[in-house]
Amino acid sequence: MDQKKLWETKWDKKSLLPRNGFASRAYKLIKQGKYNSLLDLGCGNGRDSLYFARQGLQVTAADWSESGLSQLRQLAAQKKITNLKIIQQNISRLKFKPNSFDVIYAHLSLHYFNDKITQRIFDQLYKVLKKDGLLFVKCKSTDDILCGRGRELEENIYAFRDHVRHFFDREYMTTVLAKFKIIKIRRSSAVYHSYKSSFVEAVAKK
Ligand SMILES: C[S@@+](CC[C@H](N)C(=O)[O-])C[C@H]1O[C@@H](n2cnc3c(N)ncnc32)[C@H](O)[C@@H]1O
Repeated sequence: MDQKKLWETKWDKKSLLPRNGFASRAYKLIKQGKYNSLLDLGCGNGRDSLYFARQGLQVTAADWSESGLSQLRQLAAQKKITNLKIIQQNISRLKFKPNSFDVIYAHLSLHYFNDKITQRIFDQLYKVLKKDGLLFVKCKSTDDILCGRGRELEENIYAFRDHVRHFFDREYMTTVLAKFKIIKIRRSSAVYHSYKSSFVEAVAKK
């Protein structure tokens, strides 16, 4: 199935969840520095974008799903949030100018691409980030219960019930972050839809 259509359908049925714990952990570090602009890449319906905007950051929320973005537009208008720019963009063809953001935050949005495209995306993120800027990224890990289920497309990439996922491990995260200074890589887990999901989270600096 076309992956964009899949997300349009998913966001049509979903309502806003509370912000993710990864966003709170990211903000603890962000507020320690002089950071102003933040890109929430693959923002979905924008739960974390709204959180960061409420903290006073200048937020750009980007996703390719119009159904997710339209929910976010309505919520931002209702709450009269003005420091939030919402744009439709395909992560595999990013169009931001170099040195555009102090912070890039990507919660579960960079584990959908094959190795070649993933490497290219991380290279672009490096360019788009300002000097000393921070990158926060969280991806599904090879420990996840879904890793290995469905049709194998490439190493650690499986299409399960039409949904393509690229599972990361610590080594792969280190490889894609080769240009960055890695501050931290850790594993984490959470229960979603009654099964345990496992992740690799990274914080890195340009
Ligand atoms: C698991 S959701 C995470 C959403 C949000 N970060 C959150 O935590 O609520 C993954 C998001 O990535 C977006 N996404 C997947 N592939 C994309 C692509 N090629 N370009 C832009 N967005 C994409 C989906 O539309 C979806 O909103």
